Amino acid sequence: MSETPKIFVAGATGLLGGQIVRALLDQGAPVRALVRPGTSEDKKRALTTGDVELVEGDLTDPAERLAEAVGDATTVISAVQGGPEVIVDGQANLLRAAEKAGARRFIPSDFAVDLTKLDDGDNFMIDWRRQAAAARTGTSLDVVSVLNGAFYEVMTGFMELVDWEQGTVSHWGDPDQPLDLTSVADTAAYTAAVALDPAATGTLRFAGEVLSMRQFHEAVQRGSGRTLRLQHLGSADELRAEIARRAAATDNPFEYVALQYQWCMVSGKAKFDNLDNARYPQVKPQSLTDFVRATAPAR
Ligand SMILES: NC(=O)c1ccc[n+]([C@@H]2O[C@H](COP(=O)([O-])OP(=O)(O)OC[C@H]3O[C@@H](n4cnc5c(N)ncnc54)[C@H](OP(=O)(O)O)[C@@H]3O)[C@@H](O)[C@H]2O)c1
Repeated sequence: MSETPKIFVAGATGLLGGQIVRALLDQGAPVRALVRPGTSEDKKRALTTGDVELVEGDLTDPAERLAEAVGDATTVISAVQGGPEVIVDGQANLLRAAEKAGARRFIPSDFAVDLTKLDDGDNFMIDWRRQAAAARTGTSLDVVSVLNGAFYEVMTGFMELVDWEQGTVSHWGDPDQPLDLTSVADTAAYTAAVALDPAATGTLRFAGEVLSMRQFHEAVQRGSGRTLRLQHLGSADELRAEIARRAAATDNPFEYVALQYQWCMVSGKAKFDNLDNARYPQVKPQSLTDFVRATAPAR
């Protein structure tokens, strides 16, 4: 029997959760991974390499049933994604289940910019995480929040800042405002290190690199070997006004959430004041240049 405590991972079939499972295995921890009923055999097979036990369930299951899924795991990691029914209510249910099962620690699905510095309305998806945090007040579990800034993958993809066809890198705000950036794999490695560190507590902040948009542009050029034009879209205040304009024009906030994330960053409001990287020197985060070298589309 393994001496390392077992870690429960919800959201194991997701982008970050899958990598958290792999990072835990790499760091020698046995994992119990929650998969929803109906998960494809391919996805299940991809997860079951090493000391992984799959349990079926959903965050909306009754807490008693979810507690059986948590079983003898000592730490519960949530890497789920979804609306308030998942992030607020589902995670509250998972916390209750973890308490019932006798787990000691809970790592919520935060993985963002510094959400402790934001206000309601700055970013509706972060509002749900702040509501989830408020709902955890009084829990007997030790809650440890892991923050990573923005994923490299998101900065070079979802945010639509890098346009390989047009040959541009676009940005809002001051090009010299520092931003906290981390790859998905390094966020997973830090999360696993936190989960296996009995002394970890509170909110821990990590960044693969802290770069301004000017430095981001240089790193993307270095990594891709291409010359790209840095294009200024407007000030942080103009970005805020653009978000308000779009919010008035649609009922679907997902149409402007990428802009809300950018505003939290380029305004400097959600910038980390300090980093906890030094706590885990065994994690050697990838540079953005190396990340882009490995992932940029071939010319
Ligand atoms: N900082 C950043 O730049 C950044 C970027 C992206 C994401 N994130 C954060 O990282 C975390 C994970 O995001 P992700 O992109 O990895 O998400 P994802 O790929 O969409 O995966 C979401 C996971 O949640 C599971 N899930 C959803 N509803 C559930 C429920 N009711 N019960 C049980 N499991 C449920 C999904 O299961 P199924 O596979 O069954 O659907 C899946 O495993 C989130 O907190 C997200 O905000 C941060």
